[in-house]
Amino acid sequence: MKDGLALRRLFIAANWKMNTIRQEATELIRGIKDRMGSVSAVDIMVAPPFTVLESVGRELLNTRIQLGAQDVYFEKSGAYTGEISPGMLVDAGCTYVIIGHSERRQYFAENDEMVNKKVMAGLKSYLVPILCVGESWEERKQGKTFFVLNQQILFGLQGIDNHDLSSLVIAYEPVWAIGTGKSATIEQAQEVHAYLRNVIQEFSSREVAEAVRILYGGSMNPNNARDLLSQRDVDGGLIGGASLKAETFSTLVEIAEEVQRWKHHE
Ligand code: 13P
Repeated sequence: MKDGLALRRLFIAANWKMNTIRQEATELIRGIKDRMGSVSAVDIMVAPPFTVLESVGRELLNTRIQLGAQDVYFEKSGAYTGEISPGMLVDAGCTYVIIGHSERRQYFAENDEMVNKKVMAGLKSYLVPILCVGESWEERKQGKTFFVLNQQILFGLQGIDNHDLSSLVIAYEPVWAIGTGKSATIEQAQEVHAYLRNVIQEFSSREVAEAVRILYGGSMNPNNARDLLSQRDVDGGLIGGASLKAETFSTLVEIAEEVQRWKHHE
């Protein structure tokens, strides 16, 4: 820790959502790989759809880019038609799994209890969960932002011990900023990230809270990334739209690389 600042590695994560068939995925990941030559200070992950996990994973062998999935089910195996277990993700080469994305909460009725089970199940299989939290515009307008985030964090992380907590990644994704081109301001992002770290500290310890990486997600792009990533408690980005173009995503990684060096030497 330097000047009270934990040296968290910035983390740039791509959520491809429901995009790319095999050929597109291969082209995209090759484009990203080709532009990653000298990157060494930041962690990078891509989360393609399940159907191309294996082909993208094959492209990532011997690179510094890690593979993640966009969701997981909490049971090990059995009669759960259409679902994918943590073990299957590990088998497909995943290190990370995104859990509780607002699109899953909104369109697939995921609640905090299911999210919590998924986080636990992921950890049990040694996957690193990226737990997504975020308020809607309605909730922000009504002054409920911190209440909503508090509930999502407390329920989402219930029963998880300090050791597992410190390896965890949180993604703050204000629902109103996702896919809208209207990102949170740096003040809004920093305020929420500091709040989330504080909530985590309250039920664990300062060490754990300082180790947890909190990503920002919601219309992050090369124009706003530098300012957002420079905030004390913003430890990376979970990128949707801007991750679907190799050049744009690579630019984000380069920006993170610069910010990382600056953050560690300031
Ligand atoms: P956009 O970057 O397209 O706003 O999406 C953010 C997101 O939902 C990442 O999980």
